[in-house]
Amino acid sequence: MQTPFEFDLPPYLQQCQDAVDTRLEYWLIEQPSISQNLAEAMRYATFNGGKRVRPILVFAAAEALGANKNQAVDAACALEMVHAYSLVHDDLPAMDNDDLRRGKPTCHIAFDEATAILAGDSLQCFAFEVLTESDLPAMTDNIKLAMIRTLAKASGTIGMAGGQALDLASEGKQLTLEELETVHRHKTGCLIRASVAMGGMIAQGNEQQMHALDEYADAIGLAFQVQDDILDIISDTETLGKQQGADIALNKATYPNILGLDAAKLLAQDLNHKAQNALTSFDEKALPLRALANYIVSRSH
Ligand code: IPE
Ligand code: IPE
Ligand code: MG
Ligand code: MG
Ligand code: MG
Repeated sequence: MQTPFEFDLPPYLQQCQDAVDTRLEYWLIEQPSISQNLAEAMRYATFNGGKRVRPILVFAAAEALGANKNQAVDAACALEMVHAYSLVHDDLPAMDNDDLRRGKPTCHIAFDEATAILAGDSLQCFAFEVLTESDLPAMTDNIKLAMIRTLAKASGTIGMAGGQALDLASEGKQLTLEELETVHRHKTGCLIRASVAMGGMIAQGNEQQMHALDEYADAIGLAFQVQDDILDIISDTETLGKQQGADIALNKATYPNILGLDAAKLLAQDLNHKAQNALTSFDEKALPLRALANYIVSRSH
């Protein structure tokens, strides 16, 4: 079995970031808006140095099944728009009350709270508009509908928003490991699973392939938030581009808090192994997915 180390990830990340950024520019810069201020806030929240992990997962999943990035780029944009919206709202005073994101003032600081709320709302709607309006050949009506269903479920009450509600309700409380896993699988895992699934849809993956991709995504989705919790402790504000120690300040339920830092790190590694094992039936086209799982648990920001 080939290991992630045989794949040169940084140039791949760059290619994917360039591909999604070019298309996001097309959608967000050339589209008209009746409010200049709102359009600017949407762009501010999108073009501010995100790692683009979810778009990259869309590309890597599509490529693992033999499709190419060009066909997957609108699905990638939709995912990043929902993600950017989730961060704008996550940072609001009513939620995590953060003033630094991706090394810059958060959207509600750079604009104002009402504009940030509306920018989040509009980015969320725009994600679904992009899926419906896409003119890419792989985006057939059936695939668009399946993607809309997948992204809607992953974003709403049984997905990210539901997870955010549980996250906020858990502040200051001692959760069980099982309860914390539910929070993390929803607030973060659901959009990551949707990213991988939507990549698989572009390539028209069969049932067995989609199942394997979902097993992979389930593991890295949880691992991504475990590592986010770990970085809140071991990294620094400049590297993170967001306030280090923010979880501790808010008394958030996190993996290091419940398991201890070392056990949280071991869990992240264990989830990486699970993700790698889920891909055993795939060939070398899945090397980017393998390398991404490895990256998710070793990243420094
Ligand atoms: C941060 O996500 C929020 C979580 C779900 C943990 P990312 O770490 O992907 O943030 P950006 O997009 O790179 O800024
Ligand atoms: C955010 O989790 C998850 C979503 C935005 C859905 P966090 O609150 O831990 O993310 P950061 O640490 O602020 O990026
Ligand atoms: Mg939060
Ligand atoms: Mg937060
Ligand atoms: Mg966090």
